[in-house]
Amino acid sequence: MIDPLIETVDLKKYYSVSSGNFFDRKKKIIKAVDGISIKIGKKETLGILGESGCGKTTLGRLILNIIKPTSGKIFYNGKKINKINPEMQIIFQDPYSSLDPSMTIEESLHEPMIVNGIDRIEREKRISNLIDNIGLSKKILSRYPHQFSGGQRQRIVIARALTLNPSFVVADEPVSALDVSIQAQILNLLKDLRELYSLSYLFISHDLSVVKYISNRIAVMYKGQIVEEGNSDNVCERPIHPYTKLLISSLPEYYSQNEDLKEIEREQKGSCVFYHRCPFADQQCADEEHLDFKLFDNNHKVKCVKTNSVNTK
Ligand SMILES: Nc1ncnc2c1ncn2[C@@H]1O[C@H](COP(=O)(O)OP(=O)(O)OP(=O)(O)O)[C@@H](O)[C@H]1O
Ligand code: SF4
Ligand SMILES: [Mg+2]
Repeated sequence: MIDPLIETVDLKKYYSVSSGNFFDRKKKIIKAVDGISIKIGKKETLGILGESGCGKTTLGRLILNIIKPTSGKIFYNGKKINKINPEMQIIFQDPYSSLDPSMTIEESLHEPMIVNGIDRIEREKRISNLIDNIGLSKKILSRYPHQFSGGQRQRIVIARALTLNPSFVVADEPVSALDVSIQAQILNLLKDLRELYSLSYLFISHDLSVVKYISNRIAVMYKGQIVEEGNSDNVCERPIHPYTKLLISSLPEYYSQNEDLKEIEREQKGSCVFYHRCPFADQQCADEEHLDFKLFDNNHKVKCVKTNSVNTK
């Protein structure tokens, strides 16, 4: 990638939380995002795949500067940024709480543009174009959010995110709350809008089939780190990291000897974040203090010391 639109360098977000009771309070550090370096090209979708709590939302919010990093850098169009930028927008999971129930759709669509000082003529032009492009009619403008289905609301939420002509959108589980029958429609809409408005996406999901459908590249996250990254076909068809293989249920035979892998729990040793659950963990893994990516064909990167022995397919 020659000129990425988005780049993060060793991005970290650590939270200090208290645990225990009043008399025996302990501080614990949660490494929500732990040293993430990614690049997203123009008109490219990078899918972030991982289980609940692995740090997907935190990563998206850090890139948008909604929250401040503990350390690390974020670049947009080659320039280091440290504040919210209207050219970078977000679509949330829940279309029900993303729109103000007391505002008409027209008011909701005008609002971000009013805040950013865009005049009425330009605002109406953009809304008119967007309504056409999201597949709804102008009749919807005078209605309120409760008058729409989940899928229609998510179309409106997407239109609202595009009113400021962004180049980059974080889509945080944008179809998880929708019926499966509606999910494909919204994913196709996001694909069409990517072409029409030359958008780049960071597309967050815990659902492999959804991420695979929309992403050019996929980064698999576990405990705040990326453990595998590559183009979608490579990651989905030829996964290398044991955790990615676990996520990809099309390889059940691979884990047949470990009927419930989630039950494996061992004391964390070494620097591999998957050590405590990995069926291949051994002394070599426990001794590895500075685990880094190994590079395979087509820029496929994997964070595992034993990639030759676990690379079964
Ligand atoms: N403000 C906060 N204070 C303390 N811990 C936090 C805070 N925000 C997030 N975390 C913790 O950071 C970790 C990552 O959270 P995050 O919401 O980014 O995960 P996620 O991958 O988006 O999960 P989900 O799929 O459930 O949305 C979790 O352990 C979470 O509890
Ligand atoms: S480094 Fe070792 S523990 Fe970590 S994923 Fe690879 S084999 Fe498993
Ligand atoms: Mg989340």
